[in-house]
Amino acid sequence: LLTVASLTVAEVAAILAATDRLERMAAAERAKILEGRRIALLFYESSTRTRTSFELAAKSLGAMTTLVSDKSSSIEKGESLKDTGLTLRALGAECIVLRHANSGAPYLLAKMTGLPVLNAGDGMHEHPSQALLDLRTMLTRLPGMGGRLVNAKTLEGVTVVITGDILHSRVARSNAMLLPRLGARVVLCGPKELLPEDASGLGAGVEIERDFDKALKQAGSRGKAVVMMLRIQRERLAGLELDLGEYISRYQLDEERLRSRAPEALVMHPGPMIRGLEIGGEVADGPNSAIEDQVRHGLGVRTALLVRALGAGGFESVTV
Ligand code: CP
Repeated sequence: LLTVASLTVAEVAAILAATDRLERMAAAERAKILEGRRIALLFYESSTRTRTSFELAAKSLGAMTTLVSDKSSSIEKGESLKDTGLTLRALGAECIVLRHANSGAPYLLAKMTGLPVLNAGDGMHEHPSQALLDLRTMLTRLPGMGGRLVNAKTLEGVTVVITGDILHSRVARSNAMLLPRLGARVVLCGPKELLPEDASGLGAGVEIERDFDKALKQAGSRGKAVVMMLRIQRERLAGLELDLGEYISRYQLDEERLRSRAPEALVMHPGPMIRGLEIGGEVADGPNSAIEDQVRHGLGVRTALLVRALGAGGFESVTV
């Protein structure tokens, strides 16, 4: 899984259906599916949710995992991605979960090793497993969805306002590629420093609205609304100075803003979140928040993705 673009709607539905089946399965039965298989977690950037959920998912399937991070491996001594991948393959890894600061690194690793590679976030490019877990969160938390992807119109009538540092966000990119294909309207919102003027690269079903209050109000009045807040990625700003006071006043999702513009909206955040900057603590912990659900669905979806990557049983196709 390198990009959400490669997944058909039927494949997305099959991943979600497999997630349901694996979650319902007895733990002892699930632990036989990848018994003794070897999965390498190769992380060149820090991570809490993605790394831990892939590791716990692999272990729940009976697989053995090994973690290689840039901080405590021969990567620090200058070993290349290719040589690191070939070393892991020689040690018996059958699948590699890769997070890397460079966009496209998972494609290279897959090509050089011939192994299934799961993209756990590559630079400013994509975070496909995040988009899938976000989708499952919407399907389970939005009213009337029943937790299932029925067809390519399942998200019709849903507006997803993605707000914050869009420029540097692989989460925004993967969601903006996936959700409109399922019928959702995606509105990208942020200041021009974090959301460039040029909208020519946007796909169908994706719009830009710089005024967060307007975007929220429109979403809240049109049907089902989701507001997905993003962290400012200071590590990728490269000297860009932002007036944080102004940013907070225009783009922070606080209690008053949510209550007055879109009181029914589902609030999401891929994490890590900076409370008091892009989101108020009372919203993050409030009744509209699906942030902990996102984390839980990350475990379920990544369990299904590992089964899919290793070609194990229990992964029937789904017709939509
Ligand atoms: N959402 C996400 O990718 O979080 P981590 O960086 O903690 O994995």
